[in-house]
Amino acid sequence: MTNVGFGMHNRACPAGFYLSPPTLQVCSPGTAIFNTFATVKSTRMKKIAVIGAGTMGNGIAHVFAMNGYAVHLIDISESALQKALATIGKNLDRMIAKGKLEETAKTETLDRITTMTAIAEGVADRDLIVEAATENPDLKRKIFQEMDTHAPAHAILATNTSSISITWIAAATKRPDQVIGMHFMNPVPVMKLVEVIRGYATSDTVTSTIMTLSKELGKTPVEVNDYPGFVANRILMPMINEAIETLFEGVGGVEEIDQVMKLGMAHPMGPLQLADFIGLDVCLSILQVLHDGFGRPKYAPCPLLVNMVAAGKLGVKTGEGFYRYDPATREKEVAPFFTR
Ligand SMILES: NC(=O)c1ccc[n+]([C@@H]2O[C@H](COP(=O)([O-])OP(=O)(O)OC[C@H]3O[C@@H](n4cnc5c(N)ncnc54)[C@H](O)[C@@H]3O)[C@@H](O)[C@H]2O)c1
Repeated sequence: MTNVGFGMHNRACPAGFYLSPPTLQVCSPGTAIFNTFATVKSTRMKKIAVIGAGTMGNGIAHVFAMNGYAVHLIDISESALQKALATIGKNLDRMIAKGKLEETAKTETLDRITTMTAIAEGVADRDLIVEAATENPDLKRKIFQEMDTHAPAHAILATNTSSISITWIAAATKRPDQVIGMHFMNPVPVMKLVEVIRGYATSDTVTSTIMTLSKELGKTPVEVNDYPGFVANRILMPMINEAIETLFEGVGGVEEIDQVMKLGMAHPMGPLQLADFIGLDVCLSILQVLHDGFGRPKYAPCPLLVNMVAAGKLGVKTGEGFYRYDPATREKEVAPFFTR
């Protein structure tokens, strides 16, 4: 991709947002027309570390291990690591049941994952480290300083952050040219997109390595620039926040709002259920980054979202958000707070 944006929003796109087929290319505001696909070459990366074993970390470790990479999965919480292994096992079983994976691949995949609690030990011999810890800016800077101290000089340091500035995280290290955003989508084993975010100093080599590596994982990378929320959450989070406002103002109930967006807009899942899957704490953090980063009231988180996070109703991961989830069957019903 050529560099897009950075204040150059003055040239009109000659033919709407897309050119006619056969070459589907996107017109970026203010600069050239770009194409997101490049030739796949092997990156020769073998050893990966994933920091954070929660919703995203377990999925990222799953995908790397399934594709033959040796993975160190690191979390401060031993119970999060055990839960992650159990989730990966269940998700591999689901793929086997659907005929998408050979039975033998389950053991091979799990054997490639080693769990650890110390970052220093876990990153020491790695080629790539993907940070997927809690969405907290100060925590991420601290983790990146530790990664930078202990990882080999050649290692690429990537973050799965949903919204926090890659440039700002990179500035905490002595290798900002080797820091990049590698934003996987949830659930990682299923979703094709990797949003690849180039920080201010990220080098061309590191960017093309991560684009190639994403393809080796069977994903489709799309390169974007580093502004709050990037592309995915800049667009998704205001929609989720507006769905919560719509509920808060009593325009519709939980199921009604989700049904309108599923049946009317062909979304596979309603925005409130999607918020539950993402985690309401994660949604709140992203909205705060958008609100702080742009200073516009339209990104202010709905007070209902703020209250739900304060009450510990974080969605699927805590068993209740807008819906309540049966831990065994994953069946859902509207949470009692919204039916009273
Ligand atoms: N949830 C989503 O749908 C989604 C999608 C894309 C990106 N993301 C991003 O991925 C990242 C992780 O999100 P998540 O939903 O998996 O969060 P999560 O709350 O499910 O998991 C976070 C994990 O990080 C661990 N952790 C916290 N501090 C740590 C430290 N110092 N060292 C090691 N581990 C630490 C926690 O113990 C926890 O297991 C965030 O940056 C988030 O914005 C989330």
